[in-house]
Amino acid sequence: MTTYDSAFGYVSAHGAPLVDLLDPQPGERVIDLGCGAGTFSAEIAERGADVLGIDGSLDMVAQATAHYPGLSFAVGDAHNFTTSESFDAVASNAALHWMTRDPDAVIASVHAALRPGGRFVAEMGGAGNCAELIAAMQTAWRVFGLGEPELPWYFPSPAEYTNRLEEGGFTVRLLEYADRPTRMTEGPNGAADWVRTYAASAMADVPPELVEPLLGRINDLAAPALRRESGWVADYVRLRFAAVRKPDGKSPLDVL
Ligand SMILES: C[S@@+](CC[C@H](N)C(=O)[O-])C[C@H]1O[C@@H](n2cnc3c(N)ncnc32)[C@H](O)[C@@H]1O
Repeated sequence: MTTYDSAFGYVSAHGAPLVDLLDPQPGERVIDLGCGAGTFSAEIAERGADVLGIDGSLDMVAQATAHYPGLSFAVGDAHNFTTSESFDAVASNAALHWMTRDPDAVIASVHAALRPGGRFVAEMGGAGNCAELIAAMQTAWRVFGLGEPELPWYFPSPAEYTNRLEEGGFTVRLLEYADRPTRMTEGPNGAADWVRTYAASAMADVPPELVEPLLGRINDLAAPALRRESGWVADYVRLRFAAVRKPDGKSPLDVL
C-alpha cells in the first residue's frame, strides 16, 4: 500500500534511503529514536541537521558516543522520554518494532517532543515480517516441548499503525508497506544465526542442552522458504511512514 503526498517530494520508498524521506534541513533539530550505535543519526547529521540520538540501552548510547563524538546521544525509553525543547522531526529506523510495551505511549512521547507541524518519519517491521522465520521458531519450540516462544516484536499492519498515528494527533502523509527480502549477512548459519541474534530473549528460556538441536531444527524448517543458492534470505516486510503533528497541537490523548 502506498500513499503519496507531494509535501514530501517523494514517490516511492523502494530502495531509497530513509534519510531522503526525512529530508532533514540544515539547522533543523531532529531526534533519532532507538538510535543504536548511531549510524542513522550520523546520516541525518551529514545533511546539516542538529541530531539527538535517544536509545534505551546504555551500551548502545556508549557505542554511539564513541563512534560519533561530535553528536549528542542520551539514554531514554521511547515510551516516556521527555525533551525540554521542541523538535522539528523525530526519525526512527528499525527500532519501533522493538518497543512493544505500549505503542500509543511511544507515539504520545514523539508527539510531545515535536512542534506542531513537526514530522515523524520511520521505518519498522510490518505485519507478516519474518513470517517464515517465526513459523519455524514456533514449530521447533513445539517439537521440543517448549510451548510458544515469547516473541519480542510488534509488527503492526498499515491500518493499525495509521490508526494509532491519527488517534495520537498525527496526519499520515505517506505510508508504504512492502516485502523486502534481505540477504542474511550476520552469520553463515542462516535462520539459526538470525534467531540467536534477534530472538535472544526467547532463546534465554531454552535449556542449554536443547539450544543446538533447536537451532538445527529451525534451519531445517526454514530452509525450503529462505535458503537460496546464493545464501539465506530473511523474509522482511517493512512499514515506512511519514506523518505530521497536527497543527492544533492537541492530541486526542491530551483531552482524555
Ligand atoms: C535494531 S536497533 C536499530 C538501531 C538504529 N536505529 C539503526 O538503524 O541502526 C534497535 C534499537 O532500538 C533500541 N530500543 C529498543 N527498545 C527501546 C525503547 N523502549 N526505547 C528506546 N530505545 C529502544 C535498542 O536498544 C536498539 O538500539
